[in-house]
Amino acid sequence: MMLAASNKKAPLPDDIRNAKGGIPLVSLTAYTTPMAQMMDAHCDFVLVGDSVGMVLHGLPSTLGVTMEMMIMHGQAVARGLSRAMMVVDMPFGSYEQSPQQAFENAARLMRETRAGAVKLEGGCHMAETIAFLTARGIPVMAHIGLTPQSVNTLGGYKVQGREAQAALILADAKAVADAGAFAVVLEKIPQTLADRITRAVAIPTIGIGASVGCDGQILVVDDMLGLFTAFKPGFVKRYATLGIQGEAAIACYADEVRNRRFPAAEHMFATKSP
Ligand code: KIV
Repeated sequence: MMLAASNKKAPLPDDIRNAKGGIPLVSLTAYTTPMAQMMDAHCDFVLVGDSVGMVLHGLPSTLGVTMEMMIMHGQAVARGLSRAMMVVDMPFGSYEQSPQQAFENAARLMRETRAGAVKLEGGCHMAETIAFLTARGIPVMAHIGLTPQSVNTLGGYKVQGREAQAALILADAKAVADAGAFAVVLEKIPQTLADRITRAVAIPTIGIGASVGCDGQILVVDDMLGLFTAFKPGFVKRYATLGIQGEAAIACYADEVRNRRFPAAEHMFATKSP
């Protein structure tokens, strides 16, 4: 079933879970109302990712993202969605300390943004927290493989799960699925491992730098539109080059203003005749 096309209202986490093995799930990140409006009819779920820190706020990593930022962007995205489900990322430091801390912050995110679910990073070590949240009414999407909030312990943004580490990531996937996550994001892992995980777990796998065989795909919207040009991960396909087009348009505007070609007659108001 294609959720986005068939649904008049937003799918629920269970609809996403039940889409395992069907038509691939479509997802993008969004941080603003207009972007959310653009993708609402095309995406099954939209993620208010903590990538917002790097993409919109110019932070060097996602570590500086706060609950307040996620709530503000979550509220903006919610205003632009009527058909796609919204998932909001739990920012670094808001859930790792204890299941209770995670519940308090996840409940706040859901209450203040009206998100359908939260996403958090981590595998086996977050299983207890995922079980705690799902038992208390908070649907959780897990995120394993390259987990950007752990960039300092992972030693950078490199591919995860090559060779011996593959078994650990497979164990992570099984642990989050057993704990009750309704889907799991697989970021930057080898294709064969992503395919193995997809066969091994009963919940949808959502790939980003993983495999075409995943149950769904997600990209950072500014990356695929060519708006975020600071760097381009190898797994990103640019479907547009809006950054280049935007800069050319701004240069043209600047030139026209300096040469008094803008505003033209149609952009100015005549005095009303009496
Ligand atoms: O924050 C984010 O944008 C993400 C995804 C790209 C999966 O977590």
